[in-house]
Amino acid sequence: MKILLTGGTGYIGAHTAVEALNKGYEVVLVDNLSNSKKSVVNAIEQITNKKVKFYQKDLCNKKDTFKIIAKEKPDQVIHFAGLKAVGESVKIPLKYYENNLVSTLNVLEAMQSVGCNNFIFSSSATVYGEPKKLPITEEFLVSATNPYGRTKLFIEEILRDYAKANPNLNICILRYFNPVGAHPSALIGEDPNGIPNNLMPYITKVAMKKLPELKIFGNDYPTKDGTGVRDYIHVVDLARAHICAIDKNLENTGVTVYNVGTGVGYSVLEMVQTFEKVNNILVPYSFVARRAGDIPECYASNAKAEKELRFKTQLSLEDMVKSAYEYEKKHN
Ligand code: NAD
Ligand code: WQD
Repeated sequence: MKILLTGGTGYIGAHTAVEALNKGYEVVLVDNLSNSKKSVVNAIEQITNKKVKFYQKDLCNKKDTFKIIAKEKPDQVIHFAGLKAVGESVKIPLKYYENNLVSTLNVLEAMQSVGCNNFIFSSSATVYGEPKKLPITEEFLVSATNPYGRTKLFIEEILRDYAKANPNLNICILRYFNPVGAHPSALIGEDPNGIPNNLMPYITKVAMKKLPELKIFGNDYPTKDGTGVRDYIHVVDLARAHICAIDKNLENTGVTVYNVGTGVGYSVLEMVQTFEKVNNILVPYSFVARRAGDIPECYASNAKAEKELRFKTQLSLEDMVKSAYEYEKKHN
C-alpha cells in the first residue's frame, strides 16, 4: 500500500512515516519545508533503513499538488500539512485560513481526480474549546477560540459535506491531544523555530540552559495543584494511531472521528517534576499570570479509539520526558 503524507517532514508526519515504513508501506512525503528541514528525510531513512520519496512543494499550489498525486496515485493520504501556532494565527489569520484551507481543498480535489478515497486528517483537541466536563468524548460540542482552531473546525465540516456527496469516501478525523517526546533514536523530534510556545520544548530548552527558567502560566486553576492539566501523548504512540486509522479506512465506514490521547491528565508541575527526576537535571521555574485563552484542564476519553481503531498507547510519561531531552541534547 502506498501512503502519501503531506507535511511529512514535520514533527508528527516524520514519526508517522517511520511507523508506516516499518509496517512495510511505501511512503511518499510532500512538504514545503516552511516549518521543517530536508534533513528529516535522511533521518527517516536512517531509522528505517528504507527509501522514501520526497517532494518539496507547496500544497497551496494546485498544479503541483495535482501533478504529485497524479504521478504517485497513493492508496491513502494522511494530511498533516498546516500552520499550527495558535498565537500567530491570531496575528495573521488570513495566512492561516489560506494555507490550511486551500492546501486541504487542493489535496482533496487532486485525490478525487485519481480516484483515491482514503483520507486521514490531523485535527486537534483545540476544537473542544473549554470543555464543560471531563473526560472529553467525541460527541462533545465543538467550538474554536482562535483562527487556528477554526481552520480545524472548518476542515472537519468540509470533510463531512464532501463525504455526504461521495459515499465511497473513507475519512478518519484524528483529534490529537498534546503530542510530546521524540523517537528513541533521537534522530527525529520536535524542533520549533525560535522561542517555543509549547510546554515540553520550553522545558527542554531550560534544561539545556538555552532559556533561563520556565514561566508556569497560572497556579490558581481549579486543578490538583493549581497548574494547567493536559493529556500528553508520546509522539510515537500518536504516530501508531495513524497506522490504525489506515486499517480503519479499509473498512469503508465514511467519516469517523477519534480522540487520540492517553486518557490521563498531568499538571505542569507534574511534567516538570517528572522531567527533573527522569533526566536528573533541574528545571528552574517561576509562576506567572495565566496565559490568555488557556483552559484549566483537558484530557481525552480514548474509549472510542481503543474500541474501533484498536489503538492503545504503550509509552509512559517517563518515556516522553526522557526522549524529549535526548533529542534536544543531540540537536541543539
Ligand atoms: P509541523 O509544523 O511540525 O508539521 C507540519 C508540516 O506541514 C511542516 O513540516 C510544514 O513545513 C508543512 N506545511 C505547512 N503548510 C504547508 C503547505 N502549504 N504545503 C506543504 N507543506 C506545508 O506540525 P506537527 O506538530 O507535525 O503537526 C502536524 C499536524 O497536526 C498539523 O496539521 C497540526 O495542526 C496538527 N496538530 C498538531 C498538534 C501539536 O501539538 N503538534 C496538536 C494537534 C494537531
Ligand atoms: C500546556 C500547558 C500551559 C508553556 C497547544 C494548542 C493546541 C495543540 C497543542 C495544536 C498549559 C502550560 C505552557 C509555558 C506553561 N496544538 N505552559 N508555560 O496550550 O494545551 O495546546 O498545543 O493543535 O491547539 O493550543 O499546549 O504545550 O502550550 O501548554 O505553563 O511556557 O503548559 O499553560 O497548561 P496547549 P502547551
